[in-house]
Amino acid sequence: MLKFDSVYKRFPDGTEALRNISLHVPKGQFCVLLGPSGAGKSTLLRMLNGLSSPTEGSVHLAGEQITERSVQRLRKRVATVHQQFNLTPRMSVALNVLSGALPQVAHWRAAIGLFPPELRQKACRLLDEVGLTPEHVNRRVSELSGGQQQRVGIARAFMMDPAVLLADEPVASLDPRISRGILELLHRQSRNHDTTVLCSLHQPELAREFGDRIIAVNQGRLVFDGTPEQLTDQVCEDLYHGALAHKHDAPEVDEAACEPELELAAA
Ligand SMILES: Nc1ncnc2c1ncn2[C@@H]1O[C@H](COP(=O)(O)OP(=O)(O)OP(=O)(O)O)[C@@H](O)[C@H]1O
Ligand SMILES: [Mg+2]
Repeated sequence: MLKFDSVYKRFPDGTEALRNISLHVPKGQFCVLLGPSGAGKSTLLRMLNGLSSPTEGSVHLAGEQITERSVQRLRKRVATVHQQFNLTPRMSVALNVLSGALPQVAHWRAAIGLFPPELRQKACRLLDEVGLTPEHVNRRVSELSGGQQQRVGIARAFMMDPAVLLADEPVASLDPRISRGILELLHRQSRNHDTTVLCSLHQPELAREFGDRIIAVNQGRLVFDGTPEQLTDQVCEDLYHGALAHKHDAPEVDEAACEPELELAAA
C-alpha cells in the first residue's frame, strides 16, 4: 500500500531529515513509528499527504507514485489525525466530523452547513463507533475533553473512507489512561475499515501494545524494523540514548507485494 524507495529529504538549510529510507507497508497494517525528537518521523509522514516531497527517491501509494501531478488526487485517500486535534473549537461536533467529507461536497453547500443526508448519517454512525453519544453531536467541540476531541478527530478522519491514515503523535496531548483508550479505538477503527495506518508515538510500551509492526528512525535513518516482540528494552535504550544507528532487522522491500491494491478513482 505504501512504498518508500531510497528516500532522502534535505531542507534548504542543509538539514538531512531523511536519509535513504526504503520501506513497504502492506494494506491494513498498523505500523508504529518511533524515534527521538528530530529523528524525521513527521517529515516521513508528511511525504504521504503532499506536505513534503523527497529530494531524492520516490514514494508510492497503492502502486502510484506521489508526484506534483498525482498528489491532489492521491491525498484524498489519506486522512490525518493530529496531536492537537486540529478541530474547529467553536463549531459543533457534527460539523467538525462532516468537515472530513469536504472534498465530496460543493463549497457553497458546506459553507451553509448543507450536507447531504447520507453524509449526516455516516457522521452519526462514525460518532457512535468512536463512543460519542447523541448528546455530544450538537455540542461545540470546545466543550469536550481532550480525549473526546480526539475521538471527534478520529471520526472525521474516517469520513472519506481513507486508504491510509496518518497519525502524528495522536496521544501526545493526553494522559496515559486516555492515550491507551484512543489507541485502542484507532486500532479497532482501522481494522474494521481495513485502513493502513502509520502512527508516530513517543511511548515504546504503547507501540508494543498496538503496533502490528514497529519502525524506528534516528537522525533520518531507518534503524529498526520489527515486531513488537523484537522491540526489546535494549533496542529502546539504544534508540533513545544514541547507540542505535544501524538497521537491526529490516526485511527487504518485497516488490511483488507492492502491486496496486486499490482502485484510486477520484472521490
Ligand atoms: N522546514 C524545515 N526546515 C528545516 N529543517 C526542518 C524543517 N522541518 C523539519 N526540519 C528538521 O528536520 C529534522 C526532522 O524533523 P521532524 O519534525 O521530522 O522530526 P520528528 O521526528 O517528527 O521530531 P518530534 O518527535 O520532535 O516531532 C529535524 O532536525 C528538524 O529540525
Ligand atoms: Mg514530529
